[in-house]
Amino acid sequence: MNPIANIGLHDAPITRADNCATHGHFESRCFIGSIWSKCPACSAEASAREKADREAKDREDRRQSWMRKIGEAGIPERFQNRSLQSFIAENEQQSRALAFAQDYADRFDQALATGRSALFIGRPGTGKTHLAVGIGLRIMHRDSRTVLFTTVMRAIRRVKDTWSRESRESETQAIAALVFPDLLILDEIGVQFGSDTERLIMFDVLNERYEKRRPTLLLSNLNLDEVKAYLGERVFDRLREDGGEAIVFDWESHRGKA
Ligand SMILES: Nc1ncnc2c1ncn2[C@@H]1O[C@H](COP(=O)(O)OP(=O)(O)OP(=O)(O)O)[C@@H](O)[C@H]1O
Ligand SMILES: [Mg+2]
Ligand SMILES: [Zn+2]
Repeated sequence: MNPIANIGLHDAPITRADNCATHGHFESRCFIGSIWSKCPACSAEASAREKADREAKDREDRRQSWMRKIGEAGIPERFQNRSLQSFIAENEQQSRALAFAQDYADRFDQALATGRSALFIGRPGTGKTHLAVGIGLRIMHRDSRTVLFTTVMRAIRRVKDTWSRESRESETQAIAALVFPDLLILDEIGVQFGSDTERLIMFDVLNERYEKRRPTLLLSNLNLDEVKAYLGERVFDRLREDGGEAIVFDWESHRGKA
């Protein structure tokens, strides 16, 4: 007995005319036994559909993982779609601020090597948070850098919360979470009164980042002297040492514009 012979392999495919309800006439082929090939146009359509489904799923997976990253980076919902591209520069100063932000993002590797920080100061609604988030999103997306956005108030609360008996996080862990990211964006410096405790926490965080040469973007409505007074000479000096620059935002608020 030869089982191979029973399979019914044909020397050459046999063909017959067939009809597809959708595509009409086609030539069906049979290579083995009584298995006849289906409409080639239907098969092509089915595999194109599968490919499109697979691609849509990949896109959706990527989108979800990106949204998760943005969430973990603490970027406020309102700013999640803000970018350097969507910042409109209508005057010389805005162009300079945008150019600074673009350059900072483009050369972020260098900022990471030198610990070069920056200070965005000035009037409300002028786009400080927008540009800082734009930098953060760009380096996350392009270089998979880790970014953490937080207001000073939230950062301090997180550290203070660890002092409670029930806290599951230690103070060291809370500080580490602020020191660890490649870029820390500290928003709303000076919104609340800087108590000695708050200053100490800020010093701890910024000093550790300084020692590890990790850059920080600091945002404030205060002027340069007030920021200096708030952060203290020691922190301020460290920011300056690694080539930190202050960008002044003193044009009209964008809020309320169409
Ligand atoms: N030049 C700009 N082009 C496009 N949108 C802008 C521009 N400037 C500001 N915006 C938008 O205006 C709103 C206010 O900007 P943003 O919150 O960044 O200002 P801010 O300087 O951080 O203000 P504050 O000091 O009050 O925190 C945001 O929605 C921001 O996206
Ligand atoms: Mg802001
Ligand atoms: Zn068909």
